[in-house]
Order: sequence, then structure tokens, then C-alpha cells
Amino acid sequence: MKNKNKPKVTLVGAGPGDVDLITVKGVKSLATADVVLYDALINRELLDYAPNAIKIFVGKRKDFHRYSQDEINEIIVKNAFEHGHVVRLKGGDPFIFGRGGEEIDYVDSFGIETQVISGISSSISVPANLGVSLTKRGVSESLWIITGTTSERQLSADVKLAAQSSATAVILMGMSKLKEIAHLFKEFGKSETPTAVIQNGCTANERVGLGTVDTIEEVVADKGLSSPAIIVIGEVVKESVKFRAFFEEINQQIVEKQRSL
Ligand SMILES: C[S@@+](CC[C@H](N)C(=O)[O-])C[C@H]1O[C@@H](n2cnc3c(N)ncnc32)[C@H](O)[C@@H]1O
Repeated sequence: MKNKNKPKVTLVGAGPGDVDLITVKGVKSLATADVVLYDALINRELLDYAPNAIKIFVGKRKDFHRYSQDEINEIIVKNAFEHGHVVRLKGGDPFIFGRGGEEIDYVDSFGIETQVISGISSSISVPANLGVSLTKRGVSESLWIITGTTSERQLSADVKLAAQSSATAVILMGMSKLKEIAHLFKEFGKSETPTAVIQNGCTANERVGLGTVDTIEEVVADKGLSSPAIIVIGEVVKESVKFRAFFEEINQQIVEKQRSL
């Protein structure tokens, strides 16, 4: 039977995991979807906003690639031609390390109408949920959002540049490179810079590790923290009202250590 619906693809950012952290526009788009293709990190409750749609999981997890990116691109186009409106629901914001640009380019090359509905990226919402203001007057004038792992599975060279700046560094997909990251920051005199690792931020399974660049590896190992997590390195971490007491105690320890030398 020939599909009567006009092919259309909407990339929708699902936010960081809290079901309420999706945009109203994203919810409205889901309501008109014929098909929803969704990723691993989205909150599955969001699928309830698309009661009449076919739902297909195309997620990728570390060490378990269910579909390659090329296969996902093809699935999007095939479903648009077969069923009409495809919502491609992606974690956080589709254009922040989400390969949203690649997907849109591919779809566009078939002459299919596209739309992008931005989402709330984990890079900003996960720290915010814990009271960390990534920029703050008098403390941090800028921020870097960096991938820990490039497409060649290497640590991004930008981490080294960020370590030399006074900016707040937010590193996604960096857990397997934490040792290298800490080493770089130490090389540039940042051993005592406050650091937070936040796993499953903005969800019921949120877990937090706090320390300095010097101690964070040990904290992560002790707490058994792992992906998906973001690493936040910068003076703003200790400014959070939720973390202040922890860092006051650390500061005290550093002062005492220096006195005893
Ligand atoms: C492929 S990137 C996608 C990022 C997404 N587009 C965004 O804007 O949040 C996946 C990485 O984002 C980070 N991430 C996504 N959701 C997270 C969450 N709820 N808590 C902590 N980190 C998260 C982790 O570093 C994870 O490995």
C-alpha cells in the first residue's frame, strides 16, 4: 500500500533524562509522529507522547553497536518514505556530540523536509541540576564542552588546550580517558582545581563524585562511577551551594598539609 503521508524528519532533543526536561515543541512534534526512532539515553516515558507511532530503538551503547550510523541514516529515510513523519529522538541536544548534523545532511540529500528541535544538553543541565553555574561572574568567563573520545577513539587534542585556559571544562564521553585527562590538567598546574564526575545526571540513578584533579580518579574508583557521565573541571564546581561544605573541608586539609611542610 502506498504511503499517503508526506515524508518528513524531525530531530528532537530529548534532554538529559528527566522526562520534564524536553521542550514543549518537542512534545508537540512527538504527538504527530508516525515513527519514533530513539536512542539509549532517552527517558522511555517520552515515548508516551507519541501514542500512535511505531517505536524503534536504534541506540548505541559502548561496546555494543546495535546499528552503525550509516544503517541508522538509512532506517530514518526508509521510514520517512514508508510512513511519513519520523521523529528522531536523541539524548540531550542533537547537535552536541549527537551526530544530528550527519543525520540531517543524509536525509536532506533525499529531498525530504527536515526540522531540528533543540534539546537541553546534558553538558549544561546535569551540572545545573546540582547547582553548578558553568560561568559565574568573577569565577569563570567561559566554558569548553569537549568530547573525551574522538571518532578515532583518541582523547580530543582540545582537552590540552582547555587545560591551559581559565575556562570551565565540561568533558563528555571522557570516563575511559579520565587518567589522561587528569594528567593533562596536572601538567598545567591544575592539581587542586575542583572536579565533579556526574553519572546519570538528572535521573533517579544520579551519582556524584567530588574531588580535585589530583584525587578524582581515586574518587571515581572508590565509588565505582562509570558512563554515562560528565566530568566538570573548574573553580565553579566548588561554588555550588550543594558542594560548598565538601570543598571547604578539602581547602582546610590543603592548608593544614602546606603548614606541616
Ligand atoms: C553521545 S554523547 C550525547 C550528548 C547529548 N547530545 C547531549 O547533548 O547531552 C553521550 C554522552 O553525554 C553524556 N551524558 C548524556 N546524558 C547524561 C546524563 N544524564 N548524565 C551524565 N552524562 C550524560 C555522557 O558523557 C555520555 O557519554
